[in-house]
Amino acid sequence: MSRIYNFSAGPSVLPEPVLLQARDELLEWRGSGVSVMEMSHRGKHFSLIAEELESDLRSLLGIPQNYKVLFLQGGATAQFSFIPQNILQGKTRACYVNTGAWSEKAIKDAQSYCEVVVSASSENTKFTSIPDFSGWVLDSGAAYLHYTANETIHGVEFPEAPGGNGLTLVADMSSNILSRPCDVSAHGLIYAGTQKNMGPAGVTVVIVREDLVGKANKNIPPVFDYAEQVKNNSMLNTPATYNWYLVGLVLKWLIGQGGVEAIEQRNIAKSDLLYQAIDKSALYHNPVEINCRSRMNVPFILADENLDKQFLAAAEANGLFELKGHRSVGGMRASIYNAMPEAGVLALIDFMTEFERTH
Ligand SMILES: Cc1ncc(COP(=O)(O)O)c(C=O)c1O
Repeated sequence: MSRIYNFSAGPSVLPEPVLLQARDELLEWRGSGVSVMEMSHRGKHFSLIAEELESDLRSLLGIPQNYKVLFLQGGATAQFSFIPQNILQGKTRACYVNTGAWSEKAIKDAQSYCEVVVSASSENTKFTSIPDFSGWVLDSGAAYLHYTANETIHGVEFPEAPGGNGLTLVADMSSNILSRPCDVSAHGLIYAGTQKNMGPAGVTVVIVREDLVGKANKNIPPVFDYAEQVKNNSMLNTPATYNWYLVGLVLKWLIGQGGVEAIEQRNIAKSDLLYQAIDKSALYHNPVEINCRSRMNVPFILADENLDKQFLAAAEANGLFELKGHRSVGGMRASIYNAMPEAGVLALIDFMTEFERTH
C-alpha cells in the first residue's frame, strides 16, 4: 500500500490513525458484536458514540452551555437555505459579506427567503481581500450578519470574527472549523460540513444559540427546523451513523494532538512555509492580501499557464495529488487541513522548487 499526499479541498485527507482505528473496528465495535454501520441509532452503543461526539466537540471549541449542537445532513449548502428559514424571526432582511464563491452561493440561496443586504464585497479585488470593516453597511433592522470564515476556493480567511455592531453573527466555517480557536460566544450560529477538518462527507455541524431556536418560518418541513432537531437530538430522521462515528474518531485524534490551540500552531507553521516558498519564487504567485491569506487553502498561479498541465502531471509522479485549482479561478490550490502532515507540505515545497529550477 502506498498512500499519496492528498491536497484535495474536500473530501480531503484524514488522519491516518483514524483510518487505522476505523479499519480495526470495522467488523465489530468494542465488544458489541456488530459494526457501527449496523447499529440502531437508538441503541446503547450508538448513544455512547453520539454523547462523546457532542461532548468532545463542546470541549474542543469551548461551546457554552446556552448553545445547541446539531449533526445534520444536506451539507453546508442546505444551511444556506435553512438559516434564513430558521432565524429571520419575522424580519425581512439579512446582511451578508461577500468574500468569494461560497459567500455568493449563500447569498443567492438566502435571496429566496429574504432581502439580502450585501454589507461589503471584495469582488472588485477579484476576492483577494477582506473589505475594510469601517466601510461595512450594517443594517440594524437585519436579522443577522453572515460571513464565510474561510473561502475555500479563493483562499481568503478572516483572521478573526468580525464585529457585527450588535447584529447576530452567523459563520460558515466549513473549511476552517477546528483549525484555530474560535469565540463561539461571539456568534449566534456557526455551521460547517465535516468533509474538510472533521471527517468524511455526510454530516453538517450546526452550533446555534438557544434563543435562536424555535423561531422558524411556519411552513418549514420539520426535518429542517432546528427546534425539531434539538428536541430529537439530531435524530428526527435516521442520522448518518457511521459518519458520526468517524467524526468522533477525528475529534479524539485532535484532542490527542493537543486540541485546537496546538493544531493552530502547526497550521501556522505549515502555511507559513508554503507562502514563503511561493513569495520567494519567480514562477509561483499567490494573489491574496497577506493579512487574510488562508491557512487551509493556498491557491497559487504559475507565471506561464502553459506549464499547468506539466506541473500537475509531474506533481502526481511525485506522489502529490489534487493540486488543480478550482475551475472558476484556475491555477493551483493546495489544501492543507489539520490532517495534512508537515512532511506533505515540505514534499510539495521541494517539488515546486525543483519544478521551478527545471522550467
Ligand atoms: C466554505 C464552504 N461553504 C460551503 C460549502 C458547501 O459544502 P457542501 O458541499 O457540504 O454543501 C463548501 C464546500 O466546499 C465550502 O468550502
